[in-house]
Amino acid sequence: MCPPADDRPLPNGAEVDRLVELAERLARGAGDLVLTGRPDQVEVSGTKSSLIDVVTERDLASEAYLRRELARERPYDGVLGEEEDPLVGTSGVTWVLDPIDGTVNYLYGIPAYAVSVAAVVGTPDPAVWTVVAACVHAVADGRTWTAGLGRGAYLAGRRLAVNVPVPLDRSLVGTGFGYTAERRTSQARVVAQVLPRVRDIRRIGSAAMDLCMLASGNLDAYYERGLQPWDLAAASLVAREAGAVVTGLRGAPAGEEMTVAGPAVTAAALVGLLEVLDADRDDVSGGDASA
Ligand code: IPD
Repeated sequence: MCPPADDRPLPNGAEVDRLVELAERLARGAGDLVLTGRPDQVEVSGTKSSLIDVVTERDLASEAYLRRELARERPYDGVLGEEEDPLVGTSGVTWVLDPIDGTVNYLYGIPAYAVSVAAVVGTPDPAVWTVVAACVHAVADGRTWTAGLGRGAYLAGRRLAVNVPVPLDRSLVGTGFGYTAERRTSQARVVAQVLPRVRDIRRIGSAAMDLCMLASGNLDAYYERGLQPWDLAAASLVAREAGAVVTGLRGAPAGEEMTVAGPAVTAAALVGLLEVLDADRDDVSGGDASA
């Protein structure tokens, strides 16, 4: 009988490399499907948390492709994807999939959407998992970020390192917003307090790309409340392997409550500000950083 998944050792370097190779092959394959299958007018197939949280036929096709390939290549692994029910495996490895991160950009033809594929060990929950292999493939422009645990993060063969930290008021900060009016009301309150204290804000529309762009030096820091495991898995490893701290507030790990990322000093400054603002709460009163 297999020991419980969480007790199993992490894969060694060569195994990690093989998982990264597979993650990249899968992400590129799904990316081809997403790009070549994009009709001139993308149709919404359904909605999720709200009427503006959409799923397209290509989200479904991309996840089906990824699951089919994984069933063939890694039949004993689990799968946690955005669009279908979780599949529990027996190997201790779970693949965490976002078939299109940035679906609204995809819908409108804005070229910032990505396929995100990660292999994690342990319970597939950001609070406890170890992400061991990752690929985020930005479908429209072909940028492909990869990372392996302890093996570095790469883009087009270049090893990545986050920017040298600058004070928060000179930092370019990425963020994103959820899909419900209640969540957005509190996110608007928070961003109104963050904006005057940073160089500027970017809302790219793909959390996975935000974190990878942080790894590439296109952003100095990032925060967002409401990320799901598939938004976070692959890109968190890319960011960490590029030297970022990826964390939550009040000592919690990164996850749905809050994710903050950046070089250690910048992340610490942003965590401090977001804690004062109660950015991990949805009540509209919240804190005031000018107090
Ligand atoms: C969304 C994007 C967006 C972020 C949202 C996510 P989806 O993912 O990553 O940037 O702000 O929180 O839900 O819906 O495009 O897969």
